[in-house]
Amino acid sequence: MTSITLAQGDITRESADAIVNAANSSLLGGGGVDGAIHRRGGPAILAECRALRASLPHSRLRSSGGTPIGKGLPTGRAVATTAGDLDARWVIHTVGPVWSATEDRSGLLASCYRESLRVADELGARTVAFPAISTGVYRWPMRDAARIAVETVRAAQTGVEEVTFVLFDDRAYEAFAAQLR
Ligand code: APR
Repeated sequence: MTSITLAQGDITRESADAIVNAANSSLLGGGGVDGAIHRRGGPAILAECRALRASLPHSRLRSSGGTPIGKGLPTGRAVATTAGDLDARWVIHTVGPVWSATEDRSGLLASCYRESLRVADELGARTVAFPAISTGVYRWPMRDAARIAVETVRAAQTGVEEVTFVLFDDRAYEAFAAQLR
């Protein structure tokens, strides 16, 4: 049974076997968690992200034979790289769904947690730190995101012994705490 704990603060200061990044499909960085992980983790992470990009399906060479371009990492999928200078062995990059009021993308958000745990199992990671995926730039309502996150981790068949949700502010922390009560 995977134990679930909560922490409040900056996920890049967390110690865990794997730290999960709320990435975008380009895997080339961004703001929020993504920006913080690349900033503190250093260039080794981006170097591996670029290599992963080139190996993803849908990537195709430009006519000039230049750098591969492609659709990148699909929403709901997860891949692992080194954690660079972070206090972790791996960063697991997952692409959350953008919130939509008209389309139910809950399955894709659940997939981020499930797929990240599957990758963690492949790596042999025993402790995994998650941010509140999709609740920032991707605008997913926090309470609903917390429900999906906790339900998915609780239901997951995984060898991961401890999952820590690292929440950036009181609102997020309280939303996740309410789910655990
Ligand atoms: N540590 C922990 N949580 C953080 C941190 C941090 N250093 N920085 C931000 N957060 C919180 C946000 O407050 C939010 O609740 O993480 C949650 C996810 O927010 P985002 O990082 O914006 O991620 P997301 O909503 O999934 O959007 C992903 O944003 O940064 C870009 O490249 C990224 O395009 C992608 C998109």
